[in-house]
Amino acid sequence: METITKPVAEIIPEVIRNLYERRSVRRYLDRAVARELIEQVIDAGRMAPTAMNKQPWKFYVLTEPESIKEFSKSIVKTLAKEMMHEGPAGIAKLAVGALYNLYYGSLLEGPDVFYGAPVVIFITASKDEPWACYDTSMCAQNMMLAAKALGLDSCPLGVGKSVEHTPIYYKLRIPYPEKVFLALVIGYGDEKPDAYKRMKDNVVYVNDLQPAE
Ligand SMILES: Cc1cc2nc3c(=O)[nH]c(=O)nc-3n(C[C@H](O)[C@H](O)[C@H](O)COP(=O)(O)O)c2cc1C
Repeated sequence: METITKPVAEIIPEVIRNLYERRSVRRYLDRAVARELIEQVIDAGRMAPTAMNKQPWKFYVLTEPESIKEFSKSIVKTLAKEMMHEGPAGIAKLAVGALYNLYYGSLLEGPDVFYGAPVVIFITASKDEPWACYDTSMCAQNMMLAAKALGLDSCPLGVGKSVEHTPIYYKLRIPYPEKVFLALVIGYGDEKPDAYKRMKDNVVYVNDLQPAE
């Protein structure tokens, strides 16, 4: 079995810094990411823990700008159709989503759910794996932290799951019963968003509590 090079001890503090400095980046430079870096990001994902060590994931990578655009357009169209069917609440969601993505996309090209990133990775697993949602989430976090360490930025995209409902889903060649759990974009960021304030009132030191009556 091929071994993956372990990060050296000296970079551990960098991991902690990356935890704090990683942001969801929604603007990217028009700069390709070397295949070697994509591989390193995926390798880091593979090091995530998995329930019963199943390592249930697969990675479907898009790097062709035209293909990324095609998938974005198809997802936007599909989401729009689905939301229209939901009635007024769906239409309101559609308007907010369209404005949001348009803000990051362009008036000419329309909304871009992948934010102009040069790499899109769909992380899949069998729909029959009960822990796959947790496994793929941990994998994605590893990938985003590795990307940061390699000088790249990223954004996790729940909206990427909607690719399954597009008429061009077959082009990804994802065989049943695999399904997309999460998509990630990576690339060289063209913005430095501030971190959202983290809520801190969510810890309970159970042993500090008064005994129950
Ligand atoms: C499961 C999940 C799904 C997400 N889906 C989207 C998405 O579809 N589009 C998007 O722009 N951001 C998406 N995000 C990014 C969040 O909006 C972001 O993580 C959050 O606002 C906190 O910002 P930060 O990542 O910069 O700390 C998603 C994040 C997670 C964890």
